[in-house]
Amino acid sequence: MILTKLDIAHFRNIDAITLEPHPSLNLITGNNGSGKSSILESIQCLSTGHSFRTRKAKELIQRESEEFTVTALFHDPGSSRDHRAGLQRQRDGKTDMRLNFEEISSIAEVTRLLPIKSLTPDSHKLIQEGPEERRIFLDWGVFHVEPAFFDIWRQFKRSLSQRNQLLRENGSSQELSSWDSLFIESANQINDFRISYVESLSKALQIRLNSLASRFHVELQYRSGWSSDYELAEVMVRNSDYHRRMKTTTDGPHRAEMVMLSDGVPAKQVLSRGQQKVLVYLLHLSQLDLLNTIQSRQAVVLCDDLTSELDTEHSQRLIQQLVDLQGQIFVSGVDLSVLESQNHERFHMLDGEVKKVV
Ligand SMILES: Nc1ncnc2c1ncn2[C@@H]1O[C@H](COP(=O)(O)OP(=O)(O)OP(=O)(O)O)[C@@H](O)[C@H]1O
Ligand SMILES: [Mg+2]
Repeated sequence: MILTKLDIAHFRNIDAITLEPHPSLNLITGNNGSGKSSILESIQCLSTGHSFRTRKAKELIQRESEEFTVTALFHDPGSSRDHRAGLQRQRDGKTDMRLNFEEISSIAEVTRLLPIKSLTPDSHKLIQEGPEERRIFLDWGVFHVEPAFFDIWRQFKRSLSQRNQLLRENGSSQELSSWDSLFIESANQINDFRISYVESLSKALQIRLNSLASRFHVELQYRSGWSSDYELAEVMVRNSDYHRRMKTTTDGPHRAEMVMLSDGVPAKQVLSRGQQKVLVYLLHLSQLDLLNTIQSRQAVVLCDDLTSELDTEHSQRLIQQLVDLQGQIFVSGVDLSVLESQNHERFHMLDGEVKKVV
């Protein structure tokens, strides 16, 4: 997907700007606090309703404004179709989402059309922090390659939250079991999708790892979130008293984990900081590879503050790999001169105003 025009209004320190991005590489420069990351955040918002830094619209709405608005024209090279999407979020909580001039009720319609991959200075959390980071990462991939996933995931979320509410309120066994079949059915489907995705991702990662000059080995494994000795339906019966005592459902895909092992040892324990950073980028590249091979699609890639995260050689290498994938890339940074050898457009930010640099 290629953004061809982007309008941003009343978003953080941006009053109103219009960009006509380069189909491949866009470099967004400027001093600290000038509004570089805000541009990237606004693109992510348009696709998912929230930014990689916050889910709270109020933080994004320009002080003293009532709402922010982001609209974009984008081109799908696969179908040769152009689309227009718009998002407005107001201080009072109202949200207006449009796709091709029609009001839509779920942002997922835009997310599906306009996949966004954000690589931020927080990306190391994927290895360093708890399993939720990895479930979010995994589900990004499954969502974009498996069209049935989203509805099933919604059913699962609903049955889990209803079930947990009943557990908190000491609901009857009958009430609980009325949610169990939907819970088990959707949980098993999510589990199957994720297992096959992790298998494909692990293979894609091996190819990426093999291309490294200084190789290290990492294998991905998926743990379902319940005892592997039993079917989930059986686990739910066996552990029902425990769930009641804990007042929550302790088994299911919401407790799943994607394990990363380097020669049998958790990657977090053995890989150096530098290797972990490289692994994070390779994992994201592998997801883009799968999006490309399974769906013949490209994401818009947002790299926030890239050159402060990676040294010159690794930054250049990553951008080259992203350019080769033919997705559109937006990079922010105070000084991005090391990336200027690629075909690009540069936008310079100054107190929320943009200047195209020629
Ligand atoms: N809701 C808001 N209303 C107005 N201004 C805001 C709001 N939220 C943040 N800002 C300001 O917007 C500016 C832009 O922030 P942004 O994070 O985009 O800067 P940046 O260019 O990425 O900086 P850095 O190089 O430090 O990463 C900052 O000066 C910040 O204080
Ligand atoms: Mg920034």
